[in-house]
Amino acid sequence: MIRSEIAFQKCISPDCGTAFGVSEVHVACPRCGDLLDVQYDWGRLPVPGRLQEFEQKWSHRHDPLSFSGVWRFHELLPFAPPEQVVTAGEGQTLLQQADGVATYVGVQPGRLFLQYEGMNPSGSFKDNGMSAAFTHARHVGAQRAACASTGNTSASLAMYCAVTRLMKAVIFIGSGKIAYGKLSQALEYGALTVQIAGDFDDAMVRVQEVSRDLGIYLVNSVNPFRLEGQKTIMYRVLESLRWEVPDWIVVPGGNLGNSSAFGKAFSELHCLGLIDRVPRLAVINAGGADTLYQLHQVRGVRWQGGRGDMAAVDEYYASLDREHKKASTIASAIEINRPVNLRKCLRALDCCDGVVRQVSDQEILDAKAQVGAGGIGCEPASAASVAGARLLAAEGVIRPGERVVCILTGHQLKDPTATVAYHSGDQQKFDEVLGSRGIRCASFANRAIAVPNELDQIIHAIESHS
Ligand code: F0G
Repeated sequence: MIRSEIAFQKCISPDCGTAFGVSEVHVACPRCGDLLDVQYDWGRLPVPGRLQEFEQKWSHRHDPLSFSGVWRFHELLPFAPPEQVVTAGEGQTLLQQADGVATYVGVQPGRLFLQYEGMNPSGSFKDNGMSAAFTHARHVGAQRAACASTGNTSASLAMYCAVTRLMKAVIFIGSGKIAYGKLSQALEYGALTVQIAGDFDDAMVRVQEVSRDLGIYLVNSVNPFRLEGQKTIMYRVLESLRWEVPDWIVVPGGNLGNSSAFGKAFSELHCLGLIDRVPRLAVINAGGADTLYQLHQVRGVRWQGGRGDMAAVDEYYASLDREHKKASTIASAIEINRPVNLRKCLRALDCCDGVVRQVSDQEILDAKAQVGAGGIGCEPASAASVAGARLLAAEGVIRPGERVVCILTGHQLKDPTATVAYHSGDQQKFDEVLGSRGIRCASFANRAIAVPNELDQIIHAIESHS
């Protein structure tokens, strides 16, 4: 009987709430179609009494489970026994105090931190979730795994397939919508790559149909096990802050898996008595892909115990269809109009007194240049968090003395095209490479200087620019 299991899957709808065993494979509730959670009977599990106890794992780093930044928190995502856990060394990430970025954002030095998930083995936060999805896939004996992707999920899936040899990867990408750094990973790691004539939202629909018809294990963030892995990003943030809860977590919003996972992480820690308050959550959309912003901030759609106004959501999607509106942003990773985790994200916003904002492509690229100037490069989508924090500080929603953590979701080298075009300072070249989007490339451009191959002139150029 499901109820007697320590871990189980459960429909998030308050009107359904059906439970399923962890050995079943679902990406939606078979009864009502809502999303599923992984839940635990915490009373029967050995959860540490204090978060500090996780630090003991550091002295066992020779053990891959203690080394992993995901699995050293196994007690907080105990859906599989340790011998089934899959790891590729994910989660060795960094929380960097960034005073230059703090000044840019408008908070006091010492109050702004960047959680750099680009340090993961495939270069993005996705590895946190992928190690958890692979653990579940191994548990159920899956042979093939699929995803639709704007690039990072596919890179991560392809990497875990190549490293573990547990499954074959099938990835769906939209046409012309993937940064080369990411595509190069999927191709090199040997994934079967299917480029469909459509965008990410189209690919997401198709991959769900294909996985269902062919019995392929789906690793997009509709997979509830993936989000269990992504909870650990927040555990590492707390760990780096010596277990003090920050005032704000600011995260880019695409398919809304991260924001959903973060809300679940804090809600669970709070229920377990491991933290005494939850931080506020800010989810930042790109202006050209702003469904969450439109629904939450403009139309006022809220979670309301799971009974929020979903008719308003359907009406919004119908209006996108009527107007043939497609997502469009320089931050290709979050170029998504139909976020699959919308309902879970509304729940997270409810739990964490959240806000949603949208930022322009210009604000994203300028924030990215400021992040890069601090020595940690990120891809455009990641910088939406910093641009969003700046907007919230300007509005007075984030106050100068508050402690703010911005999540940098992906590595700078994922998408060098945008970076190089921006720093060229050449508007024509920029528009040629990235399409004319009305973005001025010069705000913080660091141009290369062209000099003849003459020693005197090289020395003169260096001296006159130093
Ligand atoms: N940042 C980066 C770098 C991403 O790759 C993604 C999502 C997000 C932010 C948004 O995160 O979906 O949890 O809200 N990339 C997915 C992909 C969609 O296919 O790689 P989210």
